[in-house]
Amino acid sequence: MDIKEEIDKLTADLKVYQDKYYKEGRSLVSDSEYDRLSDRLAALEKEHPEYMHPDSPTKRVGSDLTNDFPEVRHSIPVLSLDKAYSDEAVLDFFSRSIAKGGGALSFAAEEKIDGISMVLYYEKGLLVRAVTRGNGEIGNDVTPNIMTIQSVPLAIPEPIDIAVRGEVYISKEGFRKFNDAEADEDKKAANPRNLAAGAVRRQKSSEARQVPLDIFCYEGFWGDKSLTPPDHLHILSKLKELGFRINPHFAFFDSTKESARIKLRNAGLEGTPYGFSDIGEFIEEKTSERGRLPYEIDGLVFKINELAVRDSFGYTEHHPRWAIAYKFESPQAEARLLGITVQVGRTGRITPVAEISPTKLGGSTIRRATLHNQEYIDELELAIGDTVSISKRGDVIPAVESVIDKNEEGNTTYSIPPVCPCCGTELVKIGGLQYCPEYTCPDQVKGRIAFFASSDQMDIDTLGPKTVEILYEAGILRSIEDIYTADFTKAAGLPGLGVKSVSQLIDGVKESRSRPFAVVLSSLGVADIGKKSAELLSSNGFGSIDRILDVSDSGDISALTAIPSIGEVTAENIVSAFRSPRLRKTIEILRTQGLHMSIDMDSVEEQKEQIFSGQVWCITGSFDNFNPRTLALKEVEKRGGRTVSSVTSKTTHLLAGRGGGSKRAEAERLGVRIVDEKEFLELIGMDSGSVSSTDSQLTLL
Ligand code: IVH
Repeated sequence: MDIKEEIDKLTADLKVYQDKYYKEGRSLVSDSEYDRLSDRLAALEKEHPEYMHPDSPTKRVGSDLTNDFPEVRHSIPVLSLDKAYSDEAVLDFFSRSIAKGGGALSFAAEEKIDGISMVLYYEKGLLVRAVTRGNGEIGNDVTPNIMTIQSVPLAIPEPIDIAVRGEVYISKEGFRKFNDAEADEDKKAANPRNLAAGAVRRQKSSEARQVPLDIFCYEGFWGDKSLTPPDHLHILSKLKELGFRINPHFAFFDSTKESARIKLRNAGLEGTPYGFSDIGEFIEEKTSERGRLPYEIDGLVFKINELAVRDSFGYTEHHPRWAIAYKFESPQAEARLLGITVQVGRTGRITPVAEISPTKLGGSTIRRATLHNQEYIDELELAIGDTVSISKRGDVIPAVESVIDKNEEGNTTYSIPPVCPCCGTELVKIGGLQYCPEYTCPDQVKGRIAFFASSDQMDIDTLGPKTVEILYEAGILRSIEDIYTADFTKAAGLPGLGVKSVSQLIDGVKESRSRPFAVVLSSLGVADIGKKSAELLSSNGFGSIDRILDVSDSGDISALTAIPSIGEVTAENIVSAFRSPRLRKTIEILRTQGLHMSIDMDSVEEQKEQIFSGQVWCITGSFDNFNPRTLALKEVEKRGGRTVSSVTSKTTHLLAGRGGGSKRAEAERLGVRIVDEKEFLELIGMDSGSVSSTDSQLTLL
């Protein structure tokens, strides 16, 4: 067999294996055999790209090359939908359309999937581009990432040109599992749509592939108009025939339920038939079904079925006149994005903040909402003037969740200016985030001081951000160490600072000298040393600043990486942060001012042997000796184990008490080791005989 033949054969075989696996859940070969064949094909393709099939199954696995998402112009108009908020408004759309169309019409009703809008372009039957909506005219080419979605056909059985619109999304279950497995709190996504948006724009498609993305397709635009089916029902059945994934929850409205049923059947489509008079009932049903669906929807889409009528109705500048979106009520509010301001944090990190039209939400009026970073703006394809959805869950900072409507001024996606808004220094990019690199940038200095004094840190409540600002501007407070060396009596008389508040300030500063070492350590504001890691360091052999400075001098990170949950990157960051002469100067002055630079040996907790190091534990059911059961998780953590809230492929142990069903079943399915209470007590060196349920909490705490 020559090379070309071998490539042809491997391609054909792997396609069959993939199809069987994803469509029927059957494995025709073992995983290792599959990987071997796939690696062989990739190697041959690399040497002989001329023989590579454009729809090769190796495209599904993604690559480590950096994606740059070039901008491309859409060849179809990628519009959004006009909105309705009541049954009457939908019914009104039906009757207006019928009156205007001058004849019998029928309507398709689909779920409005809350995901990322995508256009898949096929030329001569091959997927050539997958493009985000962008501003409706120009979007970003994200093809390598979309190719990793199994349900996106790389080739279709007819050699035609077609553009297919669909929504890329993540199921609620897929979201939960993926997000739970993410250890870094900062990297957890707020909801499935945000996770999907991030995945669509991952720099490496090999990473996008790890995210359980899927797609529902709902519109097709044929290059050769004469091939276009006569109505939406036949568009969907044709898309299905071509191998696209169609949402099976499809409803169809005609003058009577019976005629709707007949049209559905003639198109060979599954779906539920309705008469026009059923509209209220239908919306009610869908509203209550919403929570039970395996994916998130934010409304329903009603579309005229007959294509000839669609064409005659045409488009406004922004919406088709032949469709309408019914939106569910939501705990979110709509606002207009008036502008974006850029803030500089204490670490120099740049955060864009949305200035929005004043909007009532959760009992307060909101004028600003966080946009996190430039990547987030890119994911939303957010531009000034857009109508956005704002959410505020619990006490958290309000956030811009999604774009509801694009601006009509033609503004394109916002870009953070390249220089620091405070000091004008050119920004640098680190790990996808932008930073002002100037240590003396006033906003950073003020941020560092305010952070040091904040209630979670050194807790100097008489030194809040406003006071810091005033003292900074007056030249009295220009660094953390100034807090202990400045002459605050000079501040009396400054705006808002009377003799009394100055004397309270001096008392507050004095009292803060007694804070324990771990608090001092985390208050320094070193990027990777938050409260938790400062505790971790100080209780794992780094109970003094000198020990940390020594490691920083030697550059030997092994003692740091030996601590559970401190990885190499964090260790390197810590080592390099403590090399900074400025930080060292701060530390030395704080030391001479009497702040704690090592732990008080009396308060050191007994060190536990790290027997669970590297393990990931989940818990289910209830326990005799651990009530609440989180006490058992504490025991795991004390011994170096990590704890998670759901069982995934990364979980190594399930601690199973009485009861507990689904986690146990999942653990059994994944072959996760299941440990009962008795065995657990033995592992941690306490057999159940010696622990009675009443004194257990004391013993174990
Ligand atoms: S039809 C011209 N159908 O909702 C065709 N859109 O504001 C217009 N969406 O940008 C789109 N599910 O991203 C259509 N079944 C569905 C949809 C759907 C979700 C999204 C789509 C669009 C937005 C409309």
